[in-house]
Amino acid sequence: MKSVLVTGGAGYIGSHTVRELVENGFHPIVLDNLKQGHAEAVPEGELIVGDLADAVLLDSIVDKENVDGVVHFAGLCYVGESVSQPGRYYEENVGNGLTLLQVMRRHGVKKFVFSSSCAVYGDPLHLPIEEEHPKNPVNPYGESKLFIESILRQYDRAYELRSVSLRYFNAAGASLDARLGESHDPESHLIPRVLRAARGEIEKIEIYGDDYPTRDGSCVRDYIHVQDLAIAHVAAYRWLDGASTSEYFNLGTGTGYSVREVVEQASRVTGQNIPSEVRSRRPGDPPELVADGQKAARLLGWKPQHSELEKILTTAWTWEQNRRY
Ligand SMILES: NC(=O)c1ccc[n+]([C@@H]2O[C@H](COP(=O)([O-])OP(=O)(O)OC[C@H]3O[C@@H](n4cnc5c(N)ncnc54)[C@H](O)[C@@H]3O)[C@@H](O)[C@H]2O)c1
Repeated sequence: MKSVLVTGGAGYIGSHTVRELVENGFHPIVLDNLKQGHAEAVPEGELIVGDLADAVLLDSIVDKENVDGVVHFAGLCYVGESVSQPGRYYEENVGNGLTLLQVMRRHGVKKFVFSSSCAVYGDPLHLPIEEEHPKNPVNPYGESKLFIESILRQYDRAYELRSVSLRYFNAAGASLDARLGESHDPESHLIPRVLRAARGEIEKIEIYGDDYPTRDGSCVRDYIHVQDLAIAHVAAYRWLDGASTSEYFNLGTGTGYSVREVVEQASRVTGQNIPSEVRSRRPGDPPELVADGQKAARLLGWKPQHSELEKILTTAWTWEQNRRY
């Protein structure tokens, strides 16, 4: 039986995708070093604990497990940290990504789904952002994603390795049965922090800047339910069968919510008061990021089904109250 290698499959988006792959009849094998991932998030027997930098291990997995394609989530993903430690980000995100692609090339594995990010666009020149929008990342994290996209273009040309780069906007929410969810250390994403504030685990929510040119002065982001992302990965993996080109897709809803709106709606969903405090703007935070998702709808037949803000908050809230990891 052929397998799909899922790097970083014990992490937040990866674990939801692994489950979606299983439900669609695929056989995922997860490689994760568990630095941010959780063994409990992966079905028994499918996790290999190891590091992407280990080319010998990668070689043996691809060989023994009859790997047919790769879904690549593993990497570092803190924008601020990437600014203070750029070398580490290029090493992990670009260096390890290249190691993986070289192993694939040696074994003739030609299907690759890549976790890219809306960070490749930098400060948007217009909204909503479509895939052809200029790419001007404003931090090493976004730059590292763009490097891999560029390497993938060359691998397509030289080795016919076909890839789909999925540029997610803000992943959020938890699985509909609350068995999988977001658990990072440290947790920097807004929605889990807001919900932890609702539980009294965090004293207050920081609103970084309230003088942006947006509806209420706080930053606006496009939140996409993690289950919708998982569905998109399976659609992208299927699309690669017989594909003669590589592709890039935005994954977002086309609707943005401000930080204040998220806090207010979370307060309604949880029935709790959520204290907040305005701080100064963070460098490199664009006022508004909203996706134009029409290309994914057109070519992958993918449309968000679970990404209303209320559903995102409700699933994340149920998860926060019953977290297993
Ligand atoms: N969460 C978001 O909103 C978002 C948005 C855009 C893009 N992304 C990208 O999606 C991917 C997954 O994001 P996530 O939020 O699930 O992050 P995550 O940290 O939960 O998952 C990443 C997983 O990769 C593993 N990992 C990291 N380096 C590794 C290595 N060298 N070897 C083996 N395993 C390693 C971690 O242990 C973790 O389980 C990342 O590449 C991220 O940059 C995320």
